[in-house]
Amino acid sequence: MSGSIVTRRTFLRASALAAAGMVVGLAGCAPSRSTEGNSFSASSSSSVASVSASASAVSAGSSNQSSGLANESARKPLVVYFSYTGNVDAMAHWIADEVGGDLVRVTAKEAYPDDYDATVDRAKDEQDQNARPEIVVDLNAERLANCDTVFFGFPIWWYDLPMPMCTFLEDYDLSGKTVIPFFSHGGSSSGANSLPTLESLAKGATVKSGDAISILGDNVAASEQDVRAWAKGKTGLGATGASTIAMKVNGTTLTMLPANTEAASALVASLRDAPISVDMHSYGGFEKVGALPNELPSSDEQITTQPGDVMLYQGNQITVFHGSNTWAYTPLGHLEGATTESLLAAFGEGDATVELALQ
Ligand SMILES: Cc1cc2nc3c(=O)[nH]c(=O)nc-3n(C[C@H](O)[C@H](O)[C@H](O)COP(=O)(O)O)c2cc1C
Repeated sequence: MSGSIVTRRTFLRASALAAAGMVVGLAGCAPSRSTEGNSFSASSSSSVASVSASASAVSAGSSNQSSGLANESARKPLVVYFSYTGNVDAMAHWIADEVGGDLVRVTAKEAYPDDYDATVDRAKDEQDQNARPEIVVDLNAERLANCDTVFFGFPIWWYDLPMPMCTFLEDYDLSGKTVIPFFSHGGSSSGANSLPTLESLAKGATVKSGDAISILGDNVAASEQDVRAWAKGKTGLGATGASTIAMKVNGTTLTMLPANTEAASALVASLRDAPISVDMHSYGGFEKVGALPNELPSSDEQITTQPGDVMLYQGNQITVFHGSNTWAYTPLGHLEGATTESLLAAFGEGDATVELALQ
C-alpha cells in the first residue's frame, strides 16, 4: 500500500473505529499508558502543528556532537521512518532532501496486509500484546554511529507509535544522538502517546518532542513547503554538527541555524576567530542587508526566501529576510522561530548594526 498517499476515506474508516468505541486498553509500546486528552477524530483544524509536547527531553551526553565542521559531511543525519499508506514516506523524502540526510525505511518483516481494516486490526492486536514485530531495516552499525541526528518519522497508530518502531528503538542504540520526530495522523494532532513512548524507548537520546512536526494525513500532499521549511529550520546544531550563531540586534538575540553550504561553514569558521559586526540597511521592503568584512564562497541558486532566511548575496553581502523575494542567493542559515513581525520588531524600520557570534 505504500507509495500512494492516504485518502480521507481510509482515515475516516480508522476514525470510525475509534468513534465506535473500539479503542480500549491502549497500551502502546509501554503498558498502562494514560489515554487522557486523546482525540482520534477528524475535527483537528490545524494542518501543520509544531507540537509542544508536555514531556521533557531526555538529557544526553554530547560527546559525539562536538566533532565540528571537518566531519560534517561524514555525519549526515538519518531519516528513519515507518509508513503504511505513504504520508510519512512523502514527508521523509522531503526532509532527507532538505537536510541532505540518508533515508532508512523500517518495514515489518511480515508485511502489513493491503487491506486497511485488516491492518487496523493487526495493529490493535500488536499493541494490546505490547508486541515487537520483527523488522527489516537497511542500517549498519557504522552508519548509525556516524550520525548525530536522527529524524524519526511515523504515522500515529492507535494513539501511539506503530509497534515496528518500538522494535527499532530497542534494536538500535540512539544514545547520545538528537532525535527529531515527525509524524502524520488522522486526528491525533498532538501525537497522543507517541512522543512520550519515543522518549522512554530512545534511551540516552535527546528527543526534541517540542520541535516535532505533525501533519494531518489528508494535508500531507499539500504540505511539502511546510515540511521542507521545518526541516530547514532544523539544520543547525545537531542536524549538521555545526554551531549555531547568535545574531544580536538592538538588544535582541536571535538564533541562526547555519545552512548546509560552504558559505555557512566559512562564516562559522571565521566566527571561531572573532565575532563580526555588520551595518545593515533596509532594502526592497523585504530584507535587511549589509557588507561582511570578508567574501564567502558563493553557490548561488534561484531561491524564494521566507521570513527568517539569512542569505549571502554577491559573495559578501549578508541579507536577513523579513519578507520574501526570489533571486540568486547562497543560503547562510535561518533564524529560529522568526516571523515578519518579530524581525521587524527586532531590527526596526531603519538601519541597524548586527553582531554575529558563535553560541
Ligand atoms: C492501524 C492504524 C491505526 C491508526 N490509528 C490512528 C490514531 O490512533 N490516531 C490518528 O490520528 N490516526 C490514526 N491512524 C491514521 C494514520 O495515522 C494516518 O492516516 C497517517 O496519515 C498515515 O500515515 P502513513 O500514510 O505514512 O501510513 C491510524 C491508521 C492506521 C492504519
